[in-house]
Amino acid sequence: MSNATPAESVGLLEGISTTRTIRRYTDEPVPDDALAAMMFAATRAPSGSNRQPFRMLVLTDGPKAAEAKRIIGAAARETWGEKRRRDSYDTGSGAVADSPKARMARVMQSYVDDFESVPVLVLPCLVRYRAPNSLEGASVYPAVQNLLLAARGLGYGGALTAWHAAAEPELRELLEIPDDVFVAGTVTIGKPAGSHGPVRRRPMRELVYTESWGESVDWEDPPGTRFTSAGPPKR
Ligand SMILES: Cc1cc2nc3c(=O)[nH]c(=O)nc-3n(C[C@H](O)[C@H](O)[C@H](O)COP(=O)(O)O)c2cc1C
Repeated sequence: MSNATPAESVGLLEGISTTRTIRRYTDEPVPDDALAAMMFAATRAPSGSNRQPFRMLVLTDGPKAAEAKRIIGAAARETWGEKRRRDSYDTGSGAVADSPKARMARVMQSYVDDFESVPVLVLPCLVRYRAPNSLEGASVYPAVQNLLLAARGLGYGGALTAWHAAAEPELRELLEIPDDVFVAGTVTIGKPAGSHGPVRRRPMRELVYTESWGESVDWEDPPGTRFTSAGPPKR
């Protein structure tokens, strides 16, 4: 057990089903030993042929970190602003202050508005060793999920986003990211201002098939599972 491990660490299976996306953080910095423990977990992830093409660019409080947060923050505000309009976040149930839609819009707005103050910014990357292909993400996203779960286990929380996408050229220049490196996401980490808890997903029966496509398993979700109807309708 590393020094960074809290006395009451959450169990593996419980952690998996209760690691929510955390978009609001306290001002508390993430100490180096906790960050090191998270990165250790991230770098233990599987990858094709165990080539380990993933790299984690960790940005905390240096001058380049501040600039990267500023660049991504501006891109995030722009991207979220467009999505807010396009997906009608302010009409229908979104106009009702306490609806899930309105609450989500408030959380997203404060996330992007305060992006410059996220305690830790991580850019998970993949060093390409062959032409881009549809499977390459599989050699970087397990590391990202390890990172988020480890953050949870250590009392922190995080969010995987695509906020960097609209600002990639500027980021690449600032951080000297080579052309053959794929920037796979933007992860933010900090002490949650809210809390973790059971994630909401569709029932397992809708997502798991057996024998042939569309043939649902008859397994039950554990008691207390919370569901969402978000996502495309079941075909
Ligand atoms: C590929 C991918 C891209 C995502 N992009 C964003 C994003 O750009 N901004 C954001 O706030 N959250 C983003 N998320 C987080 C999802 O919105 C979140 O996981 C989902 O709403 C479920 O919420 P939960 O993790 O709290 O259960 C992304 C997640 C994934 C896996």
